[in-house]
Amino acid sequence: MALYARVIGWGGYLPEKVLTNDDLAKQIDTSDEWIFSRTGIRQRHIAAEGELTSDLAVKAAIAAMDRAKITADDVDMIILSTVTPDNTFPATAARVQAKLGIKGGAAFDIGAACAGFIYASSLANNYIKTGYAKTILVIGVETFSRIVDWEDRTTCVLFGDGAGAVIYQAHEDDSDTPRGILGYELHTDGRLYDILRTDGGPSETSSMGHLTMDGREVYRHAVTKLVEVSQSIMAAHNLAVTDLDWIIPHQANARIIAATGERLGLPEDRTVLTVTNHANTSAASIPLALMEMGHKIQPGETVLMEALGAGLVWGAMVLRW
Ligand code: ACO
Repeated sequence: MALYARVIGWGGYLPEKVLTNDDLAKQIDTSDEWIFSRTGIRQRHIAAEGELTSDLAVKAAIAAMDRAKITADDVDMIILSTVTPDNTFPATAARVQAKLGIKGGAAFDIGAACAGFIYASSLANNYIKTGYAKTILVIGVETFSRIVDWEDRTTCVLFGDGAGAVIYQAHEDDSDTPRGILGYELHTDGRLYDILRTDGGPSETSSMGHLTMDGREVYRHAVTKLVEVSQSIMAAHNLAVTDLDWIIPHQANARIIAATGERLGLPEDRTVLTVTNHANTSAASIPLALMEMGHKIQPGETVLMEALGAGLVWGAMVLRW
């Protein structure tokens, strides 16, 4: 019997406070027209003072667990992807585990920036396929509002806070069309470390630092690499563009999504776009997109997810829902 990691629940959480482009234009030299025309972003959500990454994660996790109709006792692993943890250590996942009342199993963080959800899901897939875990809670969560420089108009306009969660459960499936994660592909090129990073951190400096970015370089690599990885994973699984029911790209920028989709020949009406209201929520963006549209995906439909982020890291995953 073959084991597959099947999605049985999903959910998300966006902080209450909304910061529109017009609000930003009152604080820095920018405009709704500039931001929207270059990024497709109109607004972002911002965590309240004292509202932590773990708080956002817990709300998303509860929503996903409710949808999956499971309780804390059913979860035997939490894999939480973030680059904006509550503290340098312990893992935010440990705090989330306690807040959810989960008493056993493993809980840990991974850092793969904007590709974090795909990386975390690949791990969940492996733990399930090997029979090590049965029910895994994967969370993508960020509070980028805490690490952007709010005086740097070239970066602060791009990001938002939020959390998304997915429950994967082991299902035995020997059919020709098994439901669950079908495969993934992951890449890293550390030579591109400096084009998107923070200028601080516990080892390099004594301060946390702020996000810095060479936007044009990131854009160029994003389109090329996301096209390549999408083509590669579709070929590996014998999938044509017409076989894809849904494409859920990481939501960094509507232009990156459009340029990638155009080169791949992806249909716009099956490509999910949530960046307009969420901005770039890094590891949370794909599960937050699921929060918005997951109910539209029918069992048996084929979904392609792809993402790229700081590292650079990038990857893609195909699932049969
Ligand atoms: N408002 C108004 N003007 C601005 C702003 C702003 N918020 N930001 C920059 N400008 C100005 C610049 O100062 C520059 O002015 P100048 O010509 O007088 O020097 C001008 O606008 C053009 O700046 P560019 O950086 O060349 O603008 P570009 O068209 O390249 O767009 C952008 C910038 C949107 C950041 C683009 O490069 C991009 O989308 N890059 C991808 C970055 C990204 O998405 N990163 C997210 C993390 S990685 C990921 O998730 C994939």
